[in-house]
Amino acid sequence: MSKSADLDALFAAARAAHENAYAPYSRFRVGAAVRTPGGAIYSGGNVENAAYPEGWCAETSAIAAMARAGERRISEICVVGDGEALCTPCGGCRQRIREFADGETIVHVGGVEGVRATFRLSALLPESFGPGHVPARH
Ligand code: THU
Repeated sequence: MSKSADLDALFAAARAAHENAYAPYSRFRVGAAVRTPGGAIYSGGNVENAAYPEGWCAETSAIAAMARAGERRISEICVVGDGEALCTPCGGCRQRIREFADGETIVHVGGVEGVRATFRLSALLPESFGPGHVPARH
C-alpha cells in the first residue's frame, strides 16, 4: 500500500472511532487510531463519565485496544477531534503514547474533514521520560 493509502486507513479508523466517542458532557468527541510496525490498526474514542474526572481520552482507548491484542509498539497515530483548533494529544496521553513509542513516532492531528498537522512525538514531548529510564520487571 502507498504511504497516502496507509494514512487514509489510519485516518478512517480514527474518524470511525470519533463517531462512536461517548462525550455527552463536553460534547467534544475525539477518536484516535494507532498503527503498529506490522501494519495493524487499533482505535478508540473518548469515554466520559457523570463523575467527570473518571472519563478518559481517545488515545487511551486506542492504546488499551492495542495492548489487549498483545501489541507493544506504536509507529504512527492519528487523532481526530471536534472544533477548529488542533486537537493535539493532552499531556497525559503524550506520556501514554511514549510508553510504546519513541521520538520518531509520527502523530497526525485533524478534524473530521482530514489531517491538519503532523508531528514527531519528540516535538510534542521533548526530553521525555520512558521505559528505558526504569528497569522493566517481566
Ligand atoms: N480528549 C481526548 O480524548 N483526547 C485529547 O487528546 C484531548 C481531550 C477528550 C477528553 C474529554 O472527553 C474531551 O476531549 C474534552 O476535553
